[in-house]
Amino acid sequence: MLYPYLSTNENGHLTIAGHDTVSLAQKYGTALFVLNVDRLQENCRIYVDTLRECFGDNAMPLFASKSLSFTGIYTLMNRFGMGTDIVSCGELYTAKKAGFPLEKAFFHGNNKTDSDIAYALDNKIGYFVVDNEDELLRLSAIAKEYGITQKILLRITPGIDPHTHKAIVTGSVDSKFGKAIETNQAYEIVELALALDNIELCGFHCHIGSQIFECQPFCDASDCMLAFIHEVKKRYHYEAKMLNLGGGFGVRYVESDPEVNIADNIRAVAAHVKTKCQEYGLSLPYILMEPGRSIVADTTVTLYTVGSVKEITGFRNYVSVDGGMTDNPRYALYQSAYTVLTANRMNEEADYACTVAGRCCESGDLIQENVMIAKPERGDILAVLTTGAYNYSMASNYNRLPRPAILLVGNNYEKLAVRRESFEDLCRLDLDL
Ligand SMILES: Cc1ncc(COP(=O)(O)O)c(C=O)c1O
Repeated sequence: MLYPYLSTNENGHLTIAGHDTVSLAQKYGTALFVLNVDRLQENCRIYVDTLRECFGDNAMPLFASKSLSFTGIYTLMNRFGMGTDIVSCGELYTAKKAGFPLEKAFFHGNNKTDSDIAYALDNKIGYFVVDNEDELLRLSAIAKEYGITQKILLRITPGIDPHTHKAIVTGSVDSKFGKAIETNQAYEIVELALALDNIELCGFHCHIGSQIFECQPFCDASDCMLAFIHEVKKRYHYEAKMLNLGGGFGVRYVESDPEVNIADNIRAVAAHVKTKCQEYGLSLPYILMEPGRSIVADTTVTLYTVGSVKEITGFRNYVSVDGGMTDNPRYALYQSAYTVLTANRMNEEADYACTVAGRCCESGDLIQENVMIAKPERGDILAVLTTGAYNYSMASNYNRLPRPAILLVGNNYEKLAVRRESFEDLCRLDLDL
């Protein structure tokens, strides 16, 4: 099985952290996200412990909450020793509602509006990760009105090719994010940040992409960023105190995906950072990393109920479930691979080739094509693994489908973290005419 916390019980049912998924589906309904909170804690611990081992107190992992945002996740992240990054005031508000210490929050995004900036300042956010000059100038002006000096990092594009899907590459020169070293524009924005009032430049940020299995692109990115820090020091007599190396480590969606040893990868990146600092005569900056997917993706399984099995002679078989692109748009967006299991037929042969389709009025609403599962029938439960990242956070109400609940499970633990949306919720913003 893809993860050790998944097993099969005496009824031939899939279990997650010892909980029978078929019973969970009956009790809470489907579609349902089931999140293993013990696995979540283990994933956080790898980052917290390894960064501490490499850098002592001079480092912190931030949870990239775009990957999964609801009130309880910020409570858990704080409990498990993580800071957070947020990309909108909605995420900021959610973190605040959870009582998350906002001095440990970093505000990302390539288009922060004036009201975003003001809201973040009102809430005393720790750091802005400034993307561009327009933002920087407005932040300086608004911070001046507030009579404060705002701490910032600048987002730099190091121009590294991370060998991942093109839609999730973010650190190449032709990107909507950040300022490129290659074009000299990264230096220009540093010069501006250093000249502006009410801005304290604390350092730099880069993020090269997502679902990256190899360590080398991260090592290359850290080499590149330290060379940049060195050059900035030479040009402007300014030495960065912080370096945020972004997120991006890959996770296993299917058996053929490689295992990623995140602790070893962090150690390798740390070695690069230390070597380059020595080589350039720089003090070791405070190191931040910003994982999302590798914190939450492999914690979660989505449970669906099968509604129909349609066999089109000479073509293919469609298994339709009571969810789809509204709770998991990643196949429609990136053709992402997933492992699918027939959760109530775990002891049967997975010999039925099919396409798992969602229930939306959209031909592209597919969860996975060409998978082999135990042949299901109406009423059976399908489990789609590794759905913790960029699923609930990308969920929508297309076709007015209510979003699923999120159930936390662990060893002798079961608690709803997000309730299922009701029809009433769907109409809560609509006004009578
Ligand atoms: C700026 C930034 N930081 C962190 C992340 C998290 O990346 P991942 O979920 O791959 O770890 C992303 C995701 O795209 C990002 O854009």
